[in-house]
Amino acid sequence: MKNYIDISDIENLPKIIQEAISLKKDPFQHDHLGKHKTLVMLFFNSSLRTRLSTEKAAKNLGMDVMILNINNTWNLEFKDGTIMNLQTAEHIKEAAQVISQYADIIAVRAFPGLKNKEEDAADHVIHSFKKYATVPIVNMESATAHPLQALTDAITITEITTKKKPKVVLSWAPHPKALPHAVANSFIKTMQSLEVDFSITHPEGYDLSPKIIKNTVVSYNQKEALKDADIVYVKNWSSYDTYGQVLNQDPNWMITKDKIGDASCMHCLPVRRNIVIEGAVLDSKNAIVIEQANNRTYAAQIVLKKLLENQ
Ligand code: CP
Repeated sequence: MKNYIDISDIENLPKIIQEAISLKKDPFQHDHLGKHKTLVMLFFNSSLRTRLSTEKAAKNLGMDVMILNINNTWNLEFKDGTIMNLQTAEHIKEAAQVISQYADIIAVRAFPGLKNKEEDAADHVIHSFKKYATVPIVNMESATAHPLQALTDAITITEITTKKKPKVVLSWAPHPKALPHAVANSFIKTMQSLEVDFSITHPEGYDLSPKIIKNTVVSYNQKEALKDADIVYVKNWSSYDTYGQVLNQDPNWMITKDKIGDASCMHCLPVRRNIVIEGAVLDSKNAIVIEQANNRTYAAQIVLKKLLENQ
């Protein structure tokens, strides 16, 4: 693996899941691999889990870590040929090459603006870093993808599954803010490549990109979709067709104890209690969100390990 921009950068997903589970049993087994190597983490947007778990993963491998909250400190220019007489202080061409002098791996978080569909689809921040940096790039959530979260989710589902082909349902749930599509996009891609009976449920108006959905079954009837589910993955996203808009806040789409039944309940977190998921679900044994968050470390660690081994 040269970069980790998308879940499809993993050649053999079942194999890497097993390697991550093995790392989890003995996290320090490769603590010399990252000696004298530095991970630079750039945050254009805030983070709790991604920031701490990726730093922990790097340190488990013996790496040094430097973190820059870049959006609040440094305005980068991403357009080619711009006359830079406004707010941007430095072009990505220089910035990515300069950061590469200090880093052995660069990890980047940059959310979409949710205003311009084409611009967000181009995912220009992460792709510009990939183009101009001279070291590997890790996507810590871009405009369209959150592959570290998706690998985490695949590890978690593999760990808890007793059935050969569990029924996994991705359910939209309400949220007051317009949220990106990245987590849902990457989760869908990942489920499409695993041995699961996978479907999606959301209200009308929330269809995701057809390029992501492909042949996956989509239902506008949550009750029918959740029937006999083994795992319910809950996530809000804003409308893709009416780009970036909140069209529906119907509380009837919230995941409740009644709806979850015996299924396991997953969410990438952060989650708004009693808006997205009922508190009674989050406080029950059905919720595996904390185990899921723990696996963020081992997803990041296996990715960093692969990138270090390739240097
Ligand atoms: N799930 C996730 O990416 O969490 P953070 O936004 O806290 O990093």
